[in-house]
Amino acid sequence: MKRYLITGCAGFIGSNFVHYMLKKYDDILLVNLDKLTYAGNLENLKSVENDKRHIFVQGDICDEKLVRELFLKYDFDYVINFAAESHVDRSIKNPEIFVESNVLGTVNLLQRAKDAWYDDKAKTWKEGKKYLQVSTDEVYGALGPEGYFTETTPLSPHSPYSSSKASADLFVKAFHDTYGMPINITRCSNNYGPYQFPEKLIPLMINNVKHHKQLPVYGDGMQIRDWLYVEDHCKAIDMVCSNGKIGEVYNVGGHNERPNIFIVKTIISQLHDRLNDEEISEALIKHVEDRLGHDRRYGIDPEKIKNDLGWYPETPFEKGIVLTIDWYLENEEWMNNVTSGNYQKYYDEMYKAKV
Ligand code: NAD
Ligand code: DAU
Repeated sequence: MKRYLITGCAGFIGSNFVHYMLKKYDDILLVNLDKLTYAGNLENLKSVENDKRHIFVQGDICDEKLVRELFLKYDFDYVINFAAESHVDRSIKNPEIFVESNVLGTVNLLQRAKDAWYDDKAKTWKEGKKYLQVSTDEVYGALGPEGYFTETTPLSPHSPYSSSKASADLFVKAFHDTYGMPINITRCSNNYGPYQFPEKLIPLMINNVKHHKQLPVYGDGMQIRDWLYVEDHCKAIDMVCSNGKIGEVYNVGGHNERPNIFIVKTIISQLHDRLNDEEISEALIKHVEDRLGHDRRYGIDPEKIKNDLGWYPETPFEKGIVLTIDWYLENEEWMNNVTSGNYQKYYDEMYKAKV
């Protein structure tokens, strides 16, 4: 039985990964270490709370003692690090926590994995172990109208968030280059799908449209993101963990580039038709002050993961966006729970000068 330490899996991608893995494998143990920040939500894992293959531990990836104890108790084969502060706008307001969780937390996980897996005397690593860092295309910076990010594109992050993720990637690389640690890094484009916290573009717009609230589009709305359905990202992580060549970086993306304004208009038109609501129209769109240092375009070249591991994105955007809207409409209570309390304070602070 393979034993995984998975971190940050009460959040968006991590919880989808838990569901994906438990559906796919019977003989598996997932120990999920999550601090439960504002973005961590045990409701995302409700359907698996009695599943013996998943153990939830509330805690911080920066906690040296706790992570050491978990390694001793479970003798992990794999560490997959999803845990991070993940929102660019928050990083612009408050960068320090991004250094703590994203950089120091990663270094703590690397150190504890090395303690558990490396035989200092023999100078060898235990067989079959791997550390996988879930990173992002944002570490490459921004593209002009042409070209794509490949695995050899130089790192050139712009925001405090992407700088913290790039720093973490460099530490993961350093553990491989210095100690020979078995690692992989995945760098994925923008994900969308169920359980995404509504500070991010797609769930925020779905929620605002539904409530006839203004739709804050940053700047001209012509920034381009390469959207991938979250389940396809989970599949890629599983494939890289099982079969990725040690030491390699894999970009993950589906050649699905769309300007933000297209995404917003798609959500408006879908919800207008589905809810048969004439108050839902493009008049809700409000172009607001742009994000500081806003990256203009991201676009992934996924050839390496396709050629080496046989991964491909299964869910076309037209299908994925319908599945996503369906999910948020069917899970009104989930949305109401996450948007009550502190969310309102966050929204007012972030958007008060804007909308
Ligand atoms: P998220 O914000 O939804 O979830 C992050 C989770 O990490 C939360 O459950 C939170 O409680 C937990 N966490 C934060 N700090 C922690 C700490 N110090 N110790 C333990 N747990 C902690 O994020 P997400 O969108 O699911 O992203 C997951 C990972 O994937 C991140 O590393 C992110 O950089 C990366 N990524 C995200 C996207 C995307 O589009 N969302 C794309 C590519 C890569
Ligand atoms: O590219 C991968 C990254 O995608 C991940 O590493 C990050 O964790 C994830 O948050 C995401 O970053 P973005 O900044 O691209 O995602 P966000 O949903 O915040 O914004 C998407 C685009 O929409 C971006 O160009 C900013 C714009 N936007 C966003 C919000 C929240 C708006 O125009 N209005 C908004 O209210």
